[in-house]
Amino acid sequence: MTNSHSEHLPVLLNETVAALAVKEDGIYVDGTFGRGGHARVVLSQLSGNGRLLGLDKDPEAIAEGQQLSQQDPRFSIEQCSFANLAEPINSRLWQGKVDGILLDIGVSSPQLDVAERGFSFQKEGPLDMRMDPDSGMSAAQWLAVAEMNDIAVVLKTLGEERFGKRIARAIVETREQSPLTTTTQLAALIEKASPFREKHKHPATRSFQAIRIYINNELEDLKIALDQALNALAVGGRLAVISFHSLEDRIVKRFFREQAKGDDFPVNFPIRADQLNPRVRLIGKAIKAGEAELMMNPRARSAVLRVVEKLA
Ligand SMILES: C[S@@+](CC[C@H](N)C(=O)[O-])C[C@H]1O[C@@H](n2cnc3c(N)ncnc32)[C@H](O)[C@@H]1O
Repeated sequence: MTNSHSEHLPVLLNETVAALAVKEDGIYVDGTFGRGGHARVVLSQLSGNGRLLGLDKDPEAIAEGQQLSQQDPRFSIEQCSFANLAEPINSRLWQGKVDGILLDIGVSSPQLDVAERGFSFQKEGPLDMRMDPDSGMSAAQWLAVAEMNDIAVVLKTLGEERFGKRIARAIVETREQSPLTTTTQLAALIEKASPFREKHKHPATRSFQAIRIYINNELEDLKIALDQALNALAVGGRLAVISFHSLEDRIVKRFFREQAKGDDFPVNFPIRADQLNPRVRLIGKAIKAGEAELMMNPRARSAVLRVVEKLA
């Protein structure tokens, strides 16, 4: 099933590692190890005293990380959601001591490229889409039982799919005849249910994205992780988040802004800015991939990097 030769080109690699301002004896956490593109560069900047913990939900990412941990004692890896990042951090007694955390969210190229993972509407595979195939419901299992209205809401809110209701109805009508089990079966159904095509976009793009985000609880995990990550950081520690979707980026942007603003007081309340207890300071503006990277890696097109530094 695995295709370990499907590569993942790390996105915004130099920008992200620079933004982490790696200290050579520091403690770092990569919450989305993937194939270790970012992690390996962070490791290359650490001394023998530095530590890097990798996390990922995906068993294939974990297998890759285990190989690295055997070669490099500064590195360790655990299979868990970044929404639970406090656990492996606490078990290492690193709470409040972590110098940098990276979240490069979304799917990796191997997940998209390997048909058996069921993420791609272009490749025939089982309709799965779980980052951890041993946990939770697959897309096929969910689509077999979900209420039509719930499917429509997911397609609309997480995929911004304007034909969400039509597609949801087509899914329910089809499953009454025979179960939906493959990616290409669902893609063909969506294509048929969509009254017209957007330019340069397969009609199933939005629905696949929405179902994937829902099945993997991606937005909720992100919200939980951001708060846990700030708790885990040392004062002066950095949190860098790369998101690939406007819904994710909005969550990151709002969270960072709120934390940088500090306590809420009524407008005109007589208080100085330094009394608002901001939890972080924003490091620069949102960073996007430049032309050179986009030429090499078109998947970087929607990537946005945001960084904060913990103040207190
Ligand atoms: C874009 S890739 C990361 C690539 C990595 N930075 C690299 O250079 O190889 C995203 C990774 O995050 C993992 N992932 C997504 N959501 C996760 C979550 N909630 N918890 C842990 N890992 C998650 C995916 O399984 C995938 O391997």
